[in-house]
Amino acid sequence: MMNTNSSADQFTFGMIGLGTMGRNLLLNMADHGFAVAGYDKDPEKSVLLEKEGADNVVKGFTDIKSFVNSLQHPRSIMMLVPAGPIVDSVIAELTPLLDKEDIVIDGGNSHFTDTTRRDKEMADKGFHFFGMGISGGEEGARKGPSMMPGGDEDAYQFVEPILTAVAAHVNGDPCVTYIGPGAAGHFVKMVHNGIEYAIMQLLAETYEVMRKGLKMDNEAMHAVFKSWNEGRLQSFLLEVTTDIFAYKEPGSSTLLLDGIKDEAKSKGTGKWTSQVAMDLVTPIPAIDSAVSMRDLSKYKAMRVEAASLYADEQAGLSVDKAAFLAQLEQAFFFSMITTYAQGMHLLASASTQFAYNLNLADISRIWRGGCIIRSAFLETMLSAWEKNPELKHLLLAPAVQETIKETQPGVRAVVTTAIAAGIAVPTYATCLSYFDAFRSASMPSNLIQAQRDYFGAHTFERIGQEGVFHADWQGEASVQP
Ligand code: 3PG
Repeated sequence: MMNTNSSADQFTFGMIGLGTMGRNLLLNMADHGFAVAGYDKDPEKSVLLEKEGADNVVKGFTDIKSFVNSLQHPRSIMMLVPAGPIVDSVIAELTPLLDKEDIVIDGGNSHFTDTTRRDKEMADKGFHFFGMGISGGEEGARKGPSMMPGGDEDAYQFVEPILTAVAAHVNGDPCVTYIGPGAAGHFVKMVHNGIEYAIMQLLAETYEVMRKGLKMDNEAMHAVFKSWNEGRLQSFLLEVTTDIFAYKEPGSSTLLLDGIKDEAKSKGTGKWTSQVAMDLVTPIPAIDSAVSMRDLSKYKAMRVEAASLYADEQAGLSVDKAAFLAQLEQAFFFSMITTYAQGMHLLASASTQFAYNLNLADISRIWRGGCIIRSAFLETMLSAWEKNPELKHLLLAPAVQETIKETQPGVRAVVTTAIAAGIAVPTYATCLSYFDAFRSASMPSNLIQAQRDYFGAHTFERIGQEGVFHADWQGEASVQP
């Protein structure tokens, strides 16, 4: 069917914001037989939507009123606009045109606290609203993303057939499910992105060890990444990395990667994950260090100055290359699992703290396809929570214990060797140290308590004795040399 001229009540679903994500998701819906309308102030985007959707029932609008009037009742409208104040201004422009019972979906990367507020504001006005994280980038939106809707469950049920149809599918399961009340969907998407930051940083550190430590060229690194992606490390981010190590711009003889500035940007979701993890008293040091390393990369001038002050001849590692690459493969798997474990631990804490009632098996299930952190390992994660829905921490699951034991020597060798050679591997190192502390029945935190009590009289608890105590650390009982 061709594009149609609009008339009232004609379209099943409307999209506000026809950037690549919004346009592609709408085209995906159209491919699945839904009549869809899109709105963007920029006429070029509206024209592009109609051009690309020419074989389906797709209509672009530059006037919001005509767009709203073209939709079937109750209206289902998704916003895919940049997070922050723009979302509020679109809602302010839209709501006077809506009828009660209409549904508004925020499909962007909104901060979960904004979604909590908007959820209440929209409900107070009589509209249905829900926040939904969408992952998969441009291609995912077009061919099947992973979607994390939370909030108004009735509204979600109403649009579920459309979302289920357009989502990625793995073994017949759609990569979308109702996540939980309030801002649960956006919270889970935020943590997804935090995990994404850490896995990307692990891959960057792998590159650093390979080029500075093993003195490998791009072609050799490409071959290793490619072979890893055919095994248990199979994941979208490894696939992307493999492709990057083969990409030359038309007419160029060098890898594009070599011409890209080493200053990483971000839109904030990793930082938000670390910030809320601190509030929820849940350690996620892999994600914290990934955020910190993106930040450190921005101080290029300082790094260049420091490089001249502390120049280090990187002679390369004296290791058996093939054996070390096998250890690197183990290190990556160990650290990837530890990263997922930390992210899931944060979700478990948020579920309790914010009453999100998260189902960690369902979340693992919908992350298996469509999203940026999809990987073969998610099948193991899914089965861990399916077998034990009460599982408190992934590293306690029988399903991962053998792998953690098997890969541990590799990560230990990689971290110690890289650090001894002066190669920065902060996220690998923090994954290993997190693990070493996590598996410690006794941590040195008794000393922290003693120090706190010494200088601040903050008190401490004793082993085998109820109550809180304070000691006169400098009093008579103290032993002075
Ligand atoms: C996402 O995955 O949502 C973003 O595309 C990546 O986030 P970043 O720009 O903060 O890296």
